[in-house]
Amino acid sequence: MKVCVIGTGYVGLVTGVCLSEIGHDVVCVDKEELKINMLLENKLPIYEPNLDKLLLKNIEGKRLVFSKDIASAIRSQDIIFISVGTPPLADGSADLRFVEEVAREIGNNLNGYKIIVNKSTVPIGSGDWVSMIINDNTPDNTDIEKKSKIKIGESYNKPHFDVVSNPEFLREGTAISDAFSPDRIVLGSSSKRAIDIMIELYKPIINQDFEPLDNIYNQMGKKPVPVITTDLVSAEMIKYAANSFLATKISFINEIANICEKAGADVKRVAHGIGLDKRIGERFLNAGIGWGGSCFPKDVTALTKIAAEYGITTQLLNAVINVNIQQRLKVVQKVQEVLKIVKGKSIGFLGLSFKPDTDDTRDAPAITIMNNLANLGAKVKAFDPIVKVAPDSLNAKVILCQNIDGIFMDSDLIILATEWEEFYKIDYKKLGNLMREKNIIDGRNFLEKVKMQELGYKYIGIGR
Ligand code: UGA
Repeated sequence: MKVCVIGTGYVGLVTGVCLSEIGHDVVCVDKEELKINMLLENKLPIYEPNLDKLLLKNIEGKRLVFSKDIASAIRSQDIIFISVGTPPLADGSADLRFVEEVAREIGNNLNGYKIIVNKSTVPIGSGDWVSMIINDNTPDNTDIEKKSKIKIGESYNKPHFDVVSNPEFLREGTAISDAFSPDRIVLGSSSKRAIDIMIELYKPIINQDFEPLDNIYNQMGKKPVPVITTDLVSAEMIKYAANSFLATKISFINEIANICEKAGADVKRVAHGIGLDKRIGERFLNAGIGWGGSCFPKDVTALTKIAAEYGITTQLLNAVINVNIQQRLKVVQKVQEVLKIVKGKSIGFLGLSFKPDTDDTRDAPAITIMNNLANLGAKVKAFDPIVKVAPDSLNAKVILCQNIDGIFMDSDLIILATEWEEFYKIDYKKLGNLMREKNIIDGRNFLEKVKMQELGYKYIGIGR
């Protein structure tokens, strides 16, 4: 099938590459020239494990091309994915400027029946709004002269397109496996024709009957992937509800962790103990410094704003957000408890990204904690395996070290902020000798408490 993906961020790029991998003819477009130029040189503008290999394979297989010419891509392809960003506005609601721009462009270039697929996370009801903008911008409807000649009772030609909401559930760092073996595929539309075509598009994934590439995505499920077909609004709500529920699970276990800490229980044992109950489930019960990234913070807040439009106060979601804000600040309090005076102390951070296996630092808990400690007068150093350039959100006083030794050298405290696998393998015995004081706060409960204590560290976890 002929697919156009507009927007080459995490979601757009992974979607485009994976659809080409299952045999579709994909054109990925973006108005950001820099990104397209990189992709035209076979370079990725983001870090996502194994995406580079699939990108090259499909460029060479001539199923995947990149272009700056959005109009031509819309005209030549039949299924148009909108995968542009919906960043938060100052009040927390979603900024739909880019979606609107793309919808107008689609309207201007509509030639024959097309399916418009909304992959961007958009507020409830945006599918109909996108439909309206496309409709208003089709050549027929923007032709004033033609419009003025319309007689009463006559209508314009109804433009030939259907809008489908197809929310994305990819996680950064495991996006390829998530794309090929999703827990479910959600398709929301009022058009049966469009839904049937979308099911055809995803058929190899739904049936799990394509050849997996070893070591790249070998976790294919044996059973067919469930497809949820629904109306547009419900599909849009599924996306917000899923991310909000996962964030709620994390804030819940973090609140339990805080009680465990005071009462002398170990939240890791508690999470395991409740998680084995199938009604609860073990995943997303890792207590720590809380959730961040480009999705949970944006989506949970946006849902509270959507609710407010209907006069609903989201008491639970507000608490979920507050617990998460406090969880970051609690680390600063832990630092004060250990070091007493923070001013003039040297603190090394392991990890900057909001989670392992990604270079994404958007709303990373590590950054909030670093900025707070730098403001309190600490000398803050950070090392991340992938993030090598300081993000704008990071206090300019924070020093980015190019190797792990620099984090331990003359430090009074280490904070593990991101659970990168290589941080598990660090020679803590050797590097501990470089420290002034052997204190470690394990913000992800990632290391073995007893082992660290045996190595002479004062080990402080979260809720243990
Ligand atoms: C999230 C969802 O998991 C995806 O299903 C969704 O498609 C995506 O948002 C999106 O909306 O695009 P992602 O933001 O990549 O994916 O990362 P997650 O793995 O969900 O982690 C989010 C945050 O929660 C991270 O900061 C992580 O460290 C934290 N987390 C996660 C915990 O603190 N504890 C846990 O048990 C799990």
